[in-house]
Amino acid sequence: MFNLENITRKNILEMKPYSSARSEFKGQAEVFLDANENPNETLLNRYPDPLQTQLKNEIAKHKSVKPNQIFLGNGSDEAIDLLYRAFCEPGRDKAYVFPPTYGMYTVSAAINNIDVVELPVYPDFKLASLESAKSSVNTAGLLFICSPNNPTGNIIDQKTITDYANHFKGLVVVDEAYIDFSNEVSTTSLLDEIPNLVILQTFSKAWGLAGARLGMAFASVEVIETLNKIKPPYNVNTLSQKEALVALNNRAETKNDIDTIVEEREKLILQLEPLSQVLKIYPTEANFILVAFENANDLFKKLIEKGIIVRNRSQQVKDCIRITVGTPKENALLINTLKEMQE
Ligand SMILES: Cc1ncc(COP(=O)(O)O)c(C=O)c1O
Repeated sequence: MFNLENITRKNILEMKPYSSARSEFKGQAEVFLDANENPNETLLNRYPDPLQTQLKNEIAKHKSVKPNQIFLGNGSDEAIDLLYRAFCEPGRDKAYVFPPTYGMYTVSAAINNIDVVELPVYPDFKLASLESAKSSVNTAGLLFICSPNNPTGNIIDQKTITDYANHFKGLVVVDEAYIDFSNEVSTTSLLDEIPNLVILQTFSKAWGLAGARLGMAFASVEVIETLNKIKPPYNVNTLSQKEALVALNNRAETKNDIDTIVEEREKLILQLEPLSQVLKIYPTEANFILVAFENANDLFKKLIEKGIIVRNRSQQVKDCIRITVGTPKENALLINTLKEMQE
């Protein structure tokens, strides 16, 4: 039986959190002399709401979760770090990852002094079945499943996720940074059934707010309470909270952006296929395409010389470059440049 207290670091269970002025007084008042702010009213002279109540209420409606099942952080990267600090004890617990995948799981593990276990994937990047990986998953900690996966673009089916979650003694973290570009539904619908599930999403991709640094974690009320207990008091600034609310109120615009990006992705795939340098295009449900090229390293450098920056992933996947879907104009420029570079 999963027990959150058993996997929470002892120092975190025992600590008393910082209590900020803005979390001690929550009501309406005329005069605020409690937080040592500059009293002259501007857009930013007051501290932000430490628990981002208004924004969480809006997100909750949109994502069909309860506000107290939401944690907001300075990017999903902050949520990843806090999950390690709360629920992964160096020496006792481990991080489990399925490479090739998003690099911060391993970087954050290193910062937090946590050993990483790499679990196998099939050539099409589907995860090893629980049966075949079970003997390696023998501690608690964090098990990361990125879906759609970065840099490969494939979605992980929900059966695989539930299999791992039902077996694992720690938290299964499903990173859905790119879910809005996919046909698959979010695993948030499983939250009430699976107590050790954490789902990460972000305003950095489909929502067009990478500069705002705003990540979401959805989990049980108990997991969220622990993350709130250890986060820096004002981790999401006023401007980011406002911009996210604006974006949520302009949902139709975001939906439009997503539709255009997905159309452009499919168009790009069709245009890449006949190129002589292209060895393989991996199926993708994200806003990027993993492509194997002949002489990938040379091609990567030549594209930089032409002012086009893509991501060289050939260290992670042989011969591969990851191409983010850009505007129609940017995509056309990339294709024309690749055409010119054909022998
Ligand atoms: C899979 C994945 N998760 C998380 C992030 C980081 O998201 P954020 O900008 O919210 O920190 C990225 C960024 O590239 C990503 O690819």
